[in-house]
Amino acid sequence: MNPAHTTDVPDTEPHRIAADTWLIPNLAPAGDGLYLPANSMVIRGREPVIVDTGAPVHREQWLDKVFSVVEPEDVRWIFLSHDDGDHTGGLFDALERCPRATLVTNFFSVERLALEKPALPLHRMRWIEPGGSFDAGDRVLHLFRPPIFDGPTTRGLFDPKSQAMWIVDTFACLTPGSLDAADLHDDVLAQMPAMNSAVSPWHAWLDRATYTRHVDAVEALGARTVASAHGPVLRGRQLDDAFDRVRGLAGAPIIPTPGQELLDTLIGTTLLEATA
Ligand SMILES: [Fe+2]
Ligand SMILES: [Fe+2]
Repeated sequence: MNPAHTTDVPDTEPHRIAADTWLIPNLAPAGDGLYLPANSMVIRGREPVIVDTGAPVHREQWLDKVFSVVEPEDVRWIFLSHDDGDHTGGLFDALERCPRATLVTNFFSVERLALEKPALPLHRMRWIEPGGSFDAGDRVLHLFRPPIFDGPTTRGLFDPKSQAMWIVDTFACLTPGSLDAADLHDDVLAQMPAMNSAVSPWHAWLDRATYTRHVDAVEALGARTVASAHGPVLRGRQLDDAFDRVRGLAGAPIIPTPGQELLDTLIGTTLLEATA
């Protein structure tokens, strides 16, 4: 059975997180009553933008949710943060259903996707690097390199008009269900460094001063609402804390991920359920 379709996953619906900006949420079970978010976003301005295209396990829900917020023929931009599978689940569907949309991506994403997907339409793309931007009619959207990333092609997106930011794989954090950090206990958010260490274990070799300058520069863009693919929406003090938490990873030891012990437990539980 597709784990994303098990009945114990809380229902999530698209919701407005900033002016013209909608979170497209989906959750995947992560054990112990926790869930891994696999979000994307829609900016519904003069030239609507789909921001990332969800995970393959959520493809059908993702399409339903995105096109409940924006009409396919109105979409003018599909921003692909990077080529990882959990961000490209609905990419080809979106390109097909949104014939007026231009895909914002980059050379290396296209190179990497060429090894696993059908050819992308080069004439429908724009390649933009961190520091670059594109004009979506009533706003100019800025690309930047997020503080934490697990793919070299990753670019975040900042909308100065709404002061909303898409920070991709940074600030990943399992949730008991809510996708608004204001609803979550600090103990839940305190797990963020473990997930971010798993995403970017190279933090252990970072020079603290150099990395702090980079995180400071991202923070200085001035976002008031920060959404991510794998964590809750952050604002205010919780957003400040999140930036501090990733700064604190520079030069810190890698936080170990679960090993054989967890696998043994999972196999034991599965066998127990099978014989019950
Ligand atoms: Fe990724
Ligand atoms: Fe991701």
